[in-house]
This record gives sequence, C-alpha cells and structure tokens, in this order.
Amino acid sequence: MKRGEFMDVAGFREHFPVLTEDNCPVYLDNACMTLRPKTVIDAVSDYYTNNPSCAGRSVHRWGMSISRMVSRTRRKLATHIHASNPQEVIFTSNATHSINQIASGLKWKKGDVVITSDREHNSNLIPWLQAKEKFGVELKTVQSHPDNTFDIEAFENACADAGDSLRLVSMVHVGNLDGVEIPISDVSKIAHDHGALVHADGAQSAPHIPIDVSALGCDLFSFSLHKMLGPTGVGALWGREDVLNDFEPILAGGGTVEDADSISYKLRTIPDRLEGGLGHYSGICGTEAALDLLAQYDMSEFAAQEVKLNQIMSDGIRHLPEVSIIGPENPAQRGGICSISLHNLDVQNVGILMDEVNSVFVRAGLHCVNQWFNSQNLEQGSLRASAYAYNTEEEAKCFADTFCDIVDSLTGRSE
Ligand SMILES: Cc1ncc(COP(=O)(O)O)c(C=O)c1O
Repeated sequence: MKRGEFMDVAGFREHFPVLTEDNCPVYLDNACMTLRPKTVIDAVSDYYTNNPSCAGRSVHRWGMSISRMVSRTRRKLATHIHASNPQEVIFTSNATHSINQIASGLKWKKGDVVITSDREHNSNLIPWLQAKEKFGVELKTVQSHPDNTFDIEAFENACADAGDSLRLVSMVHVGNLDGVEIPISDVSKIAHDHGALVHADGAQSAPHIPIDVSALGCDLFSFSLHKMLGPTGVGALWGREDVLNDFEPILAGGGTVEDADSISYKLRTIPDRLEGGLGHYSGICGTEAALDLLAQYDMSEFAAQEVKLNQIMSDGIRHLPEVSIIGPENPAQRGGICSISLHNLDVQNVGILMDEVNSVFVRAGLHCVNQWFNSQNLEQGSLRASAYAYNTEEEAKCFADTFCDIVDSLTGRSE
C-alpha cells in the first residue's frame, strides 16, 4: 500500500489465514491480542525447521544467522517507535516483564514517589505496590476527569505535592479500559521539570498509532508484540541508555556479564545486561515478520480505520437504556475500543452469547483494570469490543446488531 492512500482493508486481511476462512469469527478482542499474518506463522516455523539456534553465542552458521536476525529485529523495533539507538531496545517477554524490569531495575530510596493514573492495567500498578512493600516507595494516583480524559492540572498538583521525592511518573499511554490517550509529551515536560523519570505503558499504543519516543519525551516505553501481529511471549522495553545501564537486571546470569569469578561479576552494558539467558528466538523471528508487514502501512491509517469502526459500534448500541459506554462520547477519543458497562445484565453471559449467537468474539470482565472498576463500584466490569485495522465496517455493524439483539432478547423487548 502506498502511504497517504485510504487503507486497503481487504488487501490487509488477506495476510491473515484465519480471516480468509469461511465462517471466520468477527474477531474484536484485539486489545488482548491480535491475529497473526501468514508471514509471522511461517517465520516461527522456519526458525524451528531451518535455523534452530541461539544468538550471541555459537559461531556456526545457524548461530551467526540468528545473531544477525536478532540485531536486525532490534533495529526494526527501534524504527517502529522512532528510537535512534537500537541498543536501547531490550527484548522482554511482554509489557508486564518490561514494567517489572523498571520496578526492579531502579535503585529506590524510601519515600520516593511514583505517580500513575487511576486507569492503569494491573501490570502498571502491582509492580509499584510491590515497590511500596519492599522499598517504602509511595504511590500517588491522579484522578481522571469524569469522562476518563486526563486531568493535567490534577497531575501538575500531584507533582508539586511530591516535590523533590518525585522519582517516576508511570502512565498508560492508551488505556485498555477505554482507549483514552494520555498526553505523554505534556506529562514528560512537567515530570522532567520536577526531576522525575517518565515511563509510558505503550501496550495499547504501539500497535495502533504512530509512536515517536523522542516526541513523547519519555525515558522508558514498554510494549508487547502479541498485540501487534507478532507471536506471544515477546515484548520490548525501550529506555534511555544512561537509565537502562544503571538498572539491576531481573534476570542476571548467562549473557549478562563481561566477566565473573567466585566472588564477583561485572555486568555488560545494554542490551545484554538486561537480556539474561537464551531468548525467545522463534518469537523474535516472528516479530521481524510482523514489523516488516507493519512497515508497509502508515500507523495513522490504522488509527483512522479503528476510529471509523468504533463510530459504527458506538452509534449502533448507545440508544439501549442498559448501556453506558466507558470514556468520552466521541469515539475519536477512544481509538478502537468500545467498552460497555451494562446495567442489570450479566456481562459474562452477554459475552458468551455474542459468540454463540453470531461468532462475535469480545472480552467480558475487568480487563486487569481492577483499580478503576472497584473505584466505580462496577463489580462485573465491562463488555469490551476492540477493533484492529483488519476489521471491516460489516464486522463492526455485525457486532452492534448482535449485541442489540441479545440485549433486547434478554430484557424481553424483542418478544
Ligand atoms: C495497557 C496495558 N498495559 C499492560 C498490559 C500487559 O501486557 P502483557 O500481558 O502483554 O504483559 C496490557 C495487556 O492487555 C495492557 O492493555
């Protein structure tokens, strides 16, 4: 596809074997994980068939080929997020691993303050609660506006209150709860004025919108490849070289040291320092294939396609009295995520019926954002449809029609 043209959704769909099958489901659980293109599936299989080796160790042909593949993929990951130095990209197993590496990597002092939002995934919450227990770190939460958009004034006040103790601001870039984006570049400026580091949890942004870590101004950025066409078990942590080179590795051992004897060891610099043990090489092969496909597209066209689908999904259901869509009214502020709080109906039951009635795959529950749902007394969570750029307008309409039929039937309106 040439850049600047409208997205060729049909052409994009052809890359995904499951989407070309008759009666394929309407897959709208993309915030959990995306589908995989044939090139990714083939790359994983090719690794085990033709090149089953490890990087950075063996000097035989297979080993050298995998070493080159890992370096290439690291460069491609850096390109995807516009990072200038590929060495600053660390392979992890997922965004959760990346965030845990930050929490374990920083050398905390008692009383250090971490600020997050009130809409964080547990992966960007529990590591700070653990740091609180282990090191006496204080966790402060910035309340969002009632429509879940970011309250920058409340954030500025929280930074001012923390004063010199502010050590880290760790915010979700785009929320998996509601698709709402936090203005990380503004957050970074304010946090840096207070001498703090900034981490953006990019698990839901790197797959959907263009990312430029230098424009975001953050110091650390985490994401997962299984949410962006790649295999499961591969994530990445990007960070400023000086910050990462000061981190203690979570996994110390093979590959992480320059030298060791029975009394001491000297850690290598990044990326090796933070990539202990043999890696997930089949996954990294698949990651390269995923990035090669993404590189053929303009991520802003992905974003536009997903908002268009969300408009159809949101407009198709919002008239129902049992429905409140979480987040701002305008789908353009919610990316591809339509997260529905249901009154007087069982969310899990509706989720199961969506599949049984019309093979529409959505997610029902708390989506690991327990903190926010608990604060709203919404115990059963929400029904979340999350679109990706391969979803069609017909699928978005099918979601809305199926959902309305089920709700009408469960409430007795259709009888
Ligand atoms: C916003 C956000 N952060 C972090 C994560 C954790 O990602 P992973 O399970 O890949 O570690 C997710 C996963 O859904 C997420 O949506």
